[in-house]
Amino acid sequence: MPALAVLLISPVLLAAGTGERLFLAHCAPCHGKSGDGGIGANLATPRLLHAPDDEALRLVIVGGIAGTGMPPTRLTASEQRDLVEYVRALGRVEPETLRGDAARGEQIFRNEAKCLQCHAVGVSGGHVGSDLSTVGARRNAAFLRQAIVDPKSALTDKFIVYQRYISFPGNFLQVRVVTASGRRVVGARIDEDAFSIQIRDYSGQLHSFWKSELKELHKDWGATPMPAYKGVLSEAQLDDVVAYLASLRGDRK
Ligand code: HEC
Ligand code: HEC
Repeated sequence: MPALAVLLISPVLLAAGTGERLFLAHCAPCHGKSGDGGIGANLATPRLLHAPDDEALRLVIVGGIAGTGMPPTRLTASEQRDLVEYVRALGRVEPETLRGDAARGEQIFRNEAKCLQCHAVGVSGGHVGSDLSTVGARRNAAFLRQAIVDPKSALTDKFIVYQRYISFPGNFLQVRVVTASGRRVVGARIDEDAFSIQIRDYSGQLHSFWKSELKELHKDWGATPMPAYKGVLSEAQLDDVVAYLASLRGDRK
C-alpha cells in the first residue's frame, strides 16, 4: 500500500512531537491537519462543547462520542496525556502586535459599523452571526481582517450534511425554505436531521419544519448575510476594528 508507506516515512511525522504525531495519525484525517475541522468538529477553538476540561477531553478521545462519527481511540496513558495537551494547544491562538487602536476600534464596531446588530460581545448584541466574545483567542488578525473585508472567504466549505450539534462559527449555513402553504423563510441552520430542520431567521425568530411539509429546501453554501466592508471602512478603521476583535480573548467583557 504505497500511501501508507509514504505516511510512515513522512519527515513531518518523524520531526513532530508525540502529541502532534498522534494527532496527525489518529485525528487529522477527520479534524484537519491544524485541527480546524472537516468531517470532524473544529478543535482549534478554546472551548469544546464535549470537553469543558482536560479529563472530559481525555474521555472523549478514548471513548469517542456515542451516536456520532467520533470514534474511540486506543492509546496508552502517556499518549492520552500528550494528545490532550496537543489538542488544547491547537485551541490557543497567540496574541500578536497590531497597528490599530482597540479603543477606537470598539467605537467603530459599536457605533459607525453597527456590528452588534448581528454579533454579540458579552451580553449585548445580536445572534445572526457568531458570538465574538472570545474571537481574539480563536482567530488570528489576518483571518479577522479577511472575514471583515470579504466575509464569504471566512465561511467553511467543509460541511457534513447532517450534524447533531451545530454551533457557530465554523458551521454557518444559510438555508431557504418554502412551506406547502407558500410561506418563505430565510435564515441560519440551527439543527437538522433526516426528517426535520430548525432555522433562525435574520430577525432572530426560530422556526422548525418537517421536511415532508416543505415544498422547497435550498442550502446556500457559501452565502452569508454579512456585508463586505471592503471600501466601506478605511484601512485605518479596519486596523482599529481588527485590534479590538483581537483583544476579545474572554479575559474581559
Ligand atoms: C472518523 C472521523 C474522526 C476521527 C478519526 C476523530 N474524530 Fe473527533 N470527532 C469526529 C466527529 C464527526 C465529531 C463530532 C461529533 C458530534 O456530532 O458531536 C468529533 C468530535 C470530537 C470532539 C468534540 C468537539 C467539541 O466541540 O466538543 C473532540 C474533542 C474530538 N473529536 C477529538 C478527536 C481527537 C483528539 C481525535 C484523535 C484521537 C479524533 N477526534 C478522531 C470525527 C472524528
Ligand atoms: C447582517 C449581519 C452581520 C453584520 C452587520 C456583521 N456580521 Fe459579521 N458575520 C455575520 C455572519 C452571518 C457571519 C458568518 C457566520 C459566523 O461566523 O457567524 C459573520 C462572521 C464574522 C466573523 C468571523 C467570525 C468567526 O469566528 O469565524 C467576524 C470576525 C465578523 N463577522 C466580524 C464583523 C464585524 C467587525 C462587523 C462590523 C464591521 C460585522 N461582522 C457585521 C453577520 C454579520
